[in-house]
Amino acid sequence: MKMTERSHHLVQINPWEEQDLDLLYRLNSPEMMEHLGGPETEEQTLNRHKRYLEHDLVGRMFSVQLLPNLESVGSVGYWPKIWKEELVYETGWSVLPAYQGNGIATAAMKIVIEEAAAENKYPYMHAFPSIDNPASNAVCRKLGFQRIAECEFEYPPGALMRCHDWRIKLNG
Ligand SMILES: CC(C)(COP(=O)(O)OP(=O)(O)OC[C@H]1O[C@@H](n2cnc3c(N)ncnc32)[C@H](O)[C@@H]1OP(=O)(O)O)[C@@H](O)C(=O)NCCC(=O)NCCS
Repeated sequence: MKMTERSHHLVQINPWEEQDLDLLYRLNSPEMMEHLGGPETEEQTLNRHKRYLEHDLVGRMFSVQLLPNLESVGSVGYWPKIWKEELVYETGWSVLPAYQGNGIATAAMKIVIEEAAAENKYPYMHAFPSIDNPASNAVCRKLGFQRIAECEFEYPPGALMRCHDWRIKLNG
């Protein structure tokens, strides 16, 4: 196993790679993007893939592989954000429909939280799931995020989404 791979029993996460573009297309379906402003265009998807490959520059994105056969089943990651005048990490997750409901997002995010905490950079990680996204809000709750407030969040750019602001302490 490469140094950059981290695994728990259910999944492993790998830094985003060139070959993960196919996974990104599969994550960009209408069903998957229901709470994220709908599917992105071809150009937006290719730009997203390029950003994901830039790793440490604009955050860290990972593909999620199911053990033991290493099928690619989703994406997780985190990136810096200024929130209420403080530098924090924002995080996000996606798991393909056929694999949902098996604890995969939660297992992958446990590894992500460990990675972000090990950096010892920012004290908090936030997630902003839409108030209409029960699965994503459940993932926050299961991971021990605390619900801070309801807020209006611009996503995708130009559209307002009502979200819950969840946060977990990474250090200290
Ligand atoms: C959100 C998402 C990543 C969850 O992935 P997952 O691997 O199924 O997540 P988990 O299995 O770890 O946990 C899901 C939890 O949501 C719960 N859940 C699912 N649908 C639910 C619903 N309609 N109402 C209440 N809880 C629900 C599950 O019961 C489970 O909790 P439990 O283990 O306590 O039973 C997945 O649904 C997804 O990719 N959705 C589309 C993309 C998206 O919305 N991403 C999040 C943007 S903030």
